[in-house]
Amino acid sequence: MQTKQLGNTSLHLTRIGFGSWAIGGGNWKFGWGHQDEQEAIDAIVTAVDHGINWVDTAAVYGGGQSEILVGKALKRLGSARRPIVATKCGRVMRDPETIDKVLKRESIIAECEASLSRLGLDCIDLYQLHWPEPDEDIEEGWGALVDLKQQGKVREIGVSNHNVRQLKRLQAIFPVGSLQPPYSLIAPEAENEILPFCGQENIGVVCYSPMYKGLLTGKFNVERAQTLPASDHRSRDARFQSPQIEVHLGLVECLKNVAQQSGRSLAELAIAWVLRRPEVTSAIVGARSPAQVLETIRAADQDLTATDLVTIEQLRAGHRQALLHAS
Ligand SMILES: NC(=O)c1ccc[n+]([C@@H]2O[C@H](COP(=O)([O-])OP(=O)(O)OC[C@H]3O[C@@H](n4cnc5c(N)ncnc54)[C@H](OP(=O)(O)O)[C@@H]3O)[C@@H](O)[C@H]2O)c1
Repeated sequence: MQTKQLGNTSLHLTRIGFGSWAIGGGNWKFGWGHQDEQEAIDAIVTAVDHGINWVDTAAVYGGGQSEILVGKALKRLGSARRPIVATKCGRVMRDPETIDKVLKRESIIAECEASLSRLGLDCIDLYQLHWPEPDEDIEEGWGALVDLKQQGKVREIGVSNHNVRQLKRLQAIFPVGSLQPPYSLIAPEAENEILPFCGQENIGVVCYSPMYKGLLTGKFNVERAQTLPASDHRSRDARFQSPQIEVHLGLVECLKNVAQQSGRSLAELAIAWVLRRPEVTSAIVGARSPAQVLETIRAADQDLTATDLVTIEQLRAGHRQALLHAS
């Protein structure tokens, strides 16, 4: 699988990374329902076996559960096959329903030690501020990451969910290695300001939820969305509820036809669409089983044709209009 340098960092990432949010399970506010642990570990190993060279996780996913499973997969893979590991700090679970937003230095230093221990590593390859909250503390949080890099606890540092104004504030302190924004056919806002700014500043971009949490796999219908268990946070996501879900599924049906005509799956088309942007280093693709990994991995090496892109733009325009009418 092709790799691309992450901004001006020392990391070279495959065009798809393994996303570990869902494997954190269902026992917390932003969970994804029940997750079989062995399947999760097998999924990571399968991803690496098939060429994916990096894994994204976060301390808060399942209150450490995702990092623990990533750590078990790393152990099984052994040092020779160890993928690049990215994790995040700044969201601290007080109890499964209460997530604190903390960017204070001491908290981040403690979070880093806990992540290293769960992952079984001496050094985290990419350490990211998960959210720019509270806004007034982003400089303090970023300063802590700079110190951790200088101490060798982390190799490269980046952020997630920050806007251009916040990126500029951090750039004045220390160059931002990467940004992790949401970006997909259903949530395309990053292309307005964020992607151009990162391109101009040579900040690496690793996009999250490229299939919008599974909606762009074609395996959702209104009934499945309406019967998601309470332990799956998508049951509370407006994009999975009426009136939005019907509009998104309308787009999904049209995109399925475009995908079929070029011999790919909808998920592959959705990921290839994210990767078409030159600013994007890699798409983080979430999976809960080896089968899901194998169904999306081919997208890393696919280019969309000019005709596909024109058709997709027309469908996006119709989707925007339909959303306006529905709201
Ligand atoms: N920085 C942040 O704030 C942030 C936020 C969100 C995500 N992320 C990162 O980005 C990663 C990816 O985003 P994401 O997990 O939200 O969404 P995603 O990659 O768009 O979708 C992943 C979900 O789609 C479903 N899926 C995957 N492959 C499938 C297949 N072949 N067929 C059918 N369904 C399939 C699975 O859920 P089901 O099987 O349950 O449907 C899976 O959990 C995360 O894991 C995380 O590492 C970061």
